[in-house]
Amino acid sequence: MSTPTAVVPPAPRFRPRRYLMCPPTHFTVTYSINPWMDPAKPTDTALAVAQWERLRRLLVGLGHRVDLIEPEPLLPDMVFAANGATVVAGRVLAARFRHPQRAAEAPAYASWFRAHGYQVHEATHVNEGEGDYLVTGTRILAGSGFRTDAAAHAEAQRALGRPVVGLELVDPRFYHLDTALAVLADDEIMYYPEAFSAHSRRLLQELYPDAVTATEEDALVFGLNAVSDGHHVVLSAQAVGLAARLAARDYVPIDIELSELLKSGGGAKCCTLEVRDR
Ligand code: ARG
Repeated sequence: MSTPTAVVPPAPRFRPRRYLMCPPTHFTVTYSINPWMDPAKPTDTALAVAQWERLRRLLVGLGHRVDLIEPEPLLPDMVFAANGATVVAGRVLAARFRHPQRAAEAPAYASWFRAHGYQVHEATHVNEGEGDYLVTGTRILAGSGFRTDAAAHAEAQRALGRPVVGLELVDPRFYHLDTALAVLADDEIMYYPEAFSAHSRRLLQELYPDAVTATEEDALVFGLNAVSDGHHVVLSAQAVGLAARLAARDYVPIDIELSELLKSGGGAKCCTLEVRDR
């Protein structure tokens, strides 16, 4: 007689990913280009490294591949790899930063991609990579208002070969799209409606009537700056309300503490750049 064994059904939305990350070896806050950054507040680089390392291990443990780029000493924000480029189906669009303090990160990331065999499309308009370009199964949701120029969106559509939907951000605390919205699975998202203009809010409601919405409380602890593989959602440990809503939708929320990086206005998503080879 055979004993029945428990069969764990595969999570249908899960897809193993490849991420590029940059260790925060030189992390600190020496300038302020968003409301979270205060150079007068001390930072603890060793703690930033430990928190980041936990994120890296977590992603590897979930079955993802993590590649690393060498951090550069004069670029303290280089840890925020999401801003380094946008990659869709093997096509790479280089970033072009709004602020001079981060300008040199764009060629650093572009060189990494070239060295790894990718052709890089140079950007003529200001765009801060996946900070403002979030890729779903069918389209690219593109932020503007604080960093990426609205005029950059057409360039992204051409370079990356996916339709782009522009969304206007209106609250300076949520200066990049990935601080106010996250892609959970191919066509599922979560977002904080008040971060968007009335027009963009209506558009999001039309496109994603079943989206998970976040409260201001969860948005302010960077709960939306989350990394989802379609099943696990790695997000700020303080975003408890949001974690409960995700669990109710059959996602598996996983806590991550990145308090040091939050001093620069960044969270889990900011630390990862997804390399979509397909
Ligand atoms: N200090 C950085 C900046 O203001 C943080 C970037 C966070 N990255 C992100 N993808 N939201 O540019």
